[in-house]
Amino acid sequence: MEIKKIGIIGAGTMGHGIAMVAAKSGHEVIMRDIEQNYVDNGLQKIDKFLSKSVAREKMTEEEKKQALALIKGTTKVEDLKDCEIIIEAVVENIELKKKVFKELDEICGPDVIFASNTSTIPITEMAAATSRPDKFIGMHFFNPVPIMKLIEVIRGLGTSDETAESVVALAKQVGKIPIEAHDYPGFISNRILMPMINEAVFCLMEGVASKEDIDGVMKLGMNHPMGPLELADLIGLDTCLYIMEVLYGGFADSKYRPCPLLKKMVNAGYLGRKTGRGFFEYTR
Ligand SMILES: NC(=O)c1ccc[n+]([C@@H]2O[C@H](COP(=O)([O-])OP(=O)(O)OC[C@H]3O[C@@H](n4cnc5c(N)ncnc54)[C@H](O)[C@@H]3O)[C@@H](O)[C@H]2O)c1
Repeated sequence: MEIKKIGIIGAGTMGHGIAMVAAKSGHEVIMRDIEQNYVDNGLQKIDKFLSKSVAREKMTEEEKKQALALIKGTTKVEDLKDCEIIIEAVVENIELKKKVFKELDEICGPDVIFASNTSTIPITEMAAATSRPDKFIGMHFFNPVPIMKLIEVIRGLGTSDETAESVVALAKQVGKIPIEAHDYPGFISNRILMPMINEAVFCLMEGVASKEDIDGVMKLGMNHPMGPLELADLIGLDTCLYIMEVLYGGFADSKYRPCPLLKKMVNAGYLGRKTGRGFFEYTR
């Protein structure tokens, strides 16, 4: 099935980014958030990003206008009922996501595909809250959405081949590279990235090296653009801890044990860039 009209739930960091890349590739988009000011904020960010692209001669004024004309903001969930796919990007909370999908399930026709942009929540469990597990899939975009090429496409236990094919085709249409994974904790990205960050925190806690040297080894020796501790500060230490807990609980395997220093930093409120202090200090 070719997808032309896309519904987005949530106009935050990820939602407005997804809306923008979808509209830039010629898709009609309806973006929903709970309050008008959140919707307006998302629309303004899209306008600002596209204006910068015009200033840098990456697109014309006409192309910007065309993309903006394809995006409509709303606070009414019913406005999404005619979409062929709904991509959910609300905050990372399983109960909230299940509630959102249950509501959509009642409003949308049986052929509408539901996709979640979750980083960690099991796709199969959210799908089970709907009457369409065959039409339910994970579509994990990366931040910042307009820049990052990857979409991790995650099949739940009941996801049909047809749904996966439609979503892989859509990912390519919006200019991204899809990589498919099955639904296990952390999928591919966070299952590999987070234990690496966690291990870097263990190295720091055990005094293997200084924070600068731990990051330096990974940058200079492995060609990583950022060191793991610097990256943890960017992601947010609370988010890193949360994902480690999902891996630890999901696999019931001690190899995913969150580092006590990571827990201590989160308890202290040192969450990284967003609080001005994590492993490194940031002037706000
Ligand atoms: N930020 C990242 O780096 C990143 C990367 C990949 C995936 N994700 C995932 O994307 C999702 C969204 O993250 P974000 O960073 O964009 O969050 P965010 O807090 O920036 O935005 C979430 C938005 O959802 C809205 N919302 C809450 N309940 C809603 C509802 N019932 N209907 C419509 N909108 C509702 C909020 O008002 C908010 O505007 C999460 O599942 C997160 O794990 C985030």
